[in-house]
Amino acid sequence: MSALSELCEEIALCRRCELYKYRTKAVPGEGPEDAEIMFVGEAPGWHEDQQGRPFVGPAGQYLSQLLASIGLGRDQVYITNVIKDRPPVNRDPLPAEIDACRIWLERQIELIRPKIVVTLGRYSMALFFPGKSISRIHGRAEKRDGVIYYAMYHPAAALHQQSLRRVIEADMQKIPRLLAEAGDIPEAKEESPSQQLTMF
Ligand code: URA
Repeated sequence: MSALSELCEEIALCRRCELYKYRTKAVPGEGPEDAEIMFVGEAPGWHEDQQGRPFVGPAGQYLSQLLASIGLGRDQVYITNVIKDRPPVNRDPLPAEIDACRIWLERQIELIRPKIVVTLGRYSMALFFPGKSISRIHGRAEKRDGVIYYAMYHPAAALHQQSLRRVIEADMQKIPRLLAEAGDIPEAKEESPSQQLTMF
């Protein structure tokens, strides 16, 4: 069994916070071990909890359409969440739950070593761009230690807010070039946080 499959099995048994009491199935994530792009959403919803798979409800259908718009299938990218168990009644994840769960995402990133980590929504963005606002940084790339971090709105937000659809669709269109030019993108400079985001 691969190290990633073993990690997913470990995640499925996790009891690091109280959310395990409410899950039907844990939702570790899915996709190829050598995926170049990793999408990180917020937390499983009802559909995901039932199936043990990320982004399989309405937001997931939209994510699949967005991927298709740049010629990618779901099976070509890794898809996961900040939180691996569904919070009761889809409430927002608590800071303690995020803290307890982040070790899993860190280990997934270490094993998969994606070129690009795409954050979907504010909880995921907050892990990689602390203190930043999605309206300011969406669609911009920042490279740190060889990995490009790229913030996008959450597909569910775009589903409910027509004006965000154009934004999320335009941000998705930038990903192929980002991937093609990943090696040429300079590392963010530590000393000037306001300049850290490379306008792409
Ligand atoms: N929303 C998320 O953030 N993740 C899922 O897996 C499904 C919906």
